[in-house]
Amino acid sequence: MPFTDLLNRPLRDLRISVTDRCNFRCVYCMPKEIFGSDYHYLPHDQVLTFEEITRLARMFAAHGVKKIRLTGGEPLVRKGLTLLVSMLSQIPDIDLTMTTNGSLLPRYAQALKDAGLKRISVSLDSLDNEVFKAMNDVDFPVEKVLEGMETAQKVGLEPIKVNMVVKRGMNESSILPMARFFREKGYILRFIEYMDVGHTNGWRMDDVISAKEIVEIINAEMPLEPLDPNYTGEVAERWRYKDGSGEIGVIASVTQPFCRDCNRARLSAEGKLYTCLFAVKGHDLKSLLRGGATDEEISQFIARVWGRRADRYSELRSENTVDLPKVEMSHIGG
Ligand code: GTP
Ligand code: 5AD
Ligand code: SF4
Ligand code: SF4
Repeated sequence: MPFTDLLNRPLRDLRISVTDRCNFRCVYCMPKEIFGSDYHYLPHDQVLTFEEITRLARMFAAHGVKKIRLTGGEPLVRKGLTLLVSMLSQIPDIDLTMTTNGSLLPRYAQALKDAGLKRISVSLDSLDNEVFKAMNDVDFPVEKVLEGMETAQKVGLEPIKVNMVVKRGMNESSILPMARFFREKGYILRFIEYMDVGHTNGWRMDDVISAKEIVEIINAEMPLEPLDPNYTGEVAERWRYKDGSGEIGVIASVTQPFCRDCNRARLSAEGKLYTCLFAVKGHDLKSLLRGGATDEEISQFIARVWGRRADRYSELRSENTVDLPKVEMSHIGG
């Protein structure tokens, strides 16, 4: 039986963060001032093992989850991740995918494909090295990310989606070059409104470029028309180029919240279940796993948590919610 929450939303999508570490320091996600050399990451024994993750994933799948997305931090910095992919890919009827910064794809794409990963989303905020390096803050070059995408395409991890967070004053000049480039390439580029996730990125409404503005900028050069969603609850609003040369997406969590159909649960690397990207508190599944609870008991716990869920943060966002002590993006992924 699928679980439904207080707003009658089923649980369909599970995002699993496999590590809170990342080799980038994106200014909107893991700013260096906070995530410096003295930052305390989760100790190894507090991170769920692959067996624990797979056991939970099977329970979620038994109760209606159809899509599993691996996230981080950066999922590919977790040692031996392809083994986890091969374990998860044994679960029937699951769309198994991953969100990555692409830096390690040249090394791992083939092994991920062989292990049963279906497709990937790669984050890239600009094609201009100066802008990109200012955003990832570790001097990582654009070419390497593009090389990662190429390798992924070559081995068949398709369709490839590209995620670009747009932050005013940093990369709005990259909107058109990115659109032109990925239209040519045939990858689906999605523009993400900069969000107030976590409480360390110093988010201000003034820094958000709205999806509406983004669509207008692109439409002026390359005419667009709206497309229907692929499925209920799809995060990205789809647009296609009128000349038939492909599509883009805009993810307008700030200006056009999509909580009404939100069917996403998030599992942190330390085994906490979060029912919203902006949650203040997680529900401890690791203690249950390590305390000897049965599958039945854990499933009942998950059903209770989901059954009490009324989250709709983006619809309620205001001046007063911005400073709440929310969980960091690097703990629960995108
Ligand atoms: P597919 O449709 O399966 O390809 O994936 P998706 O659209 O869910 O894509 P992805 O998981 O890559 O999400 C893209 C971005 O949307 C994330 O990195 C987040 O920034 C944002 N996002 C995803 N889910 C949520 C959500 O539940 N709430 C909010 N506010 N933002 C979300
Ligand atoms: N606002 C919007 N998107 C974000 N991401 C990380 N932090 C933010 C933020 N503050 C996105 C990244 C990546 C995914 C993991 O989440 O760009 O695509
Ligand atoms: Fe790392 Fe992704 Fe966060 Fe950037 S957005 S710091 S790549 S987890
Ligand atoms: Fe779902 Fe929370 Fe995002 Fe709304 S803000 S779409 S409830 S994760």
